[in-house]
Amino acid sequence: MYIDGSAALVVGGAGGLGEATVRRLHAAGVRVVVADLADDKGKALESELGVRYVRTDATDEASLSAAVEEAERAGEFRIAVDCHGGPARGGRLVGKDGSPMDLAGFRTTIDVYLTGVFNVLRLAAAALARTAPMDEDGGRGVIVTTASIAAYEGQIGQLPYAAAKGGVAAMTLVAARDLSPLGIRVLSIAPGTILTPAYGRAADRLEAHWGPQVPHPRRMGRPEEYAALVQHLCENGYLNGEVIRLDGALRFPPK
Ligand SMILES: NC(=O)c1ccc[n+]([C@@H]2O[C@H](COP(=O)([O-])OP(=O)(O)OC[C@H]3O[C@@H](n4cnc5c(N)ncnc54)[C@H](O)[C@@H]3O)[C@@H](O)[C@H]2O)c1
Repeated sequence: MYIDGSAALVVGGAGGLGEATVRRLHAAGVRVVVADLADDKGKALESELGVRYVRTDATDEASLSAAVEEAERAGEFRIAVDCHGGPARGGRLVGKDGSPMDLAGFRTTIDVYLTGVFNVLRLAAAALARTAPMDEDGGRGVIVTTASIAAYEGQIGQLPYAAAKGGVAAMTLVAARDLSPLGIRVLSIAPGTILTPAYGRAADRLEAHWGPQVPHPRRMGRPEEYAALVQHLCENGYLNGEVIRLDGALRFPPK
């Protein structure tokens, strides 16, 4: 798929993985719309790169629809990338005091990390379906979501997050099948540990903790490595319906 000159929506585009994706696609000639809740960062990207920032809540229909419309106005809308993520609630299924895990916290995590992705899938797909096919395969575009290796080996205390990411991984093939008559590809990236602000801890401490656990290369991933994969997934028209691990062969231990 040829991406130069097309338009893209990056949901969570002001975050660690999102910003790297915005920069990468922008450098490849894509007209990028950044959809996020982080106004300061979004506006900073807008003024530095000339991309468009739209304050967006991925879990909200009206808010996300407005961002998708902005991407449609920005040019030939072909790419939607979702890498948003907020605080996840965790804890053990049964706490040390014997109380069961909080139901409201589970629902909140599912809302942000699973329902939000579903919202991006459905609204981006409907918009891509309105475009004309762009190649001899009848392709209209691509949607890339972000799962996690926690979809496969969630750690102790991560049940709601692992459930949401497992859902994102499971939606990938079904969405690709659903959208195949429309020529829309769906892919997901399952990162291991990529050094971003999401961890809320100093980079050297994170690296010291996670780096030695990664088989090779023995370090955390870089957001630019995620962004490079996004670009490849967009450009390689035969990739579809797959979740790609990006983790240096890391398999999360129980904790
Ligand atoms: N960094 C990693 O190691 C890693 C590993 C596995 C999976 N992931 C996943 O990748 C995604 C991005 O991670 P990151 O490290 O870049 O996080 P990040 O915290 O740096 O960025 C997330 C961005 O999403 C935005 N956001 C939060 N709620 C939103 C909402 N409702 N609507 C729109 N935007 C919203 C935030 O403002 C932020 O800019 C998350 O889904 C995360 O679970 C990250």
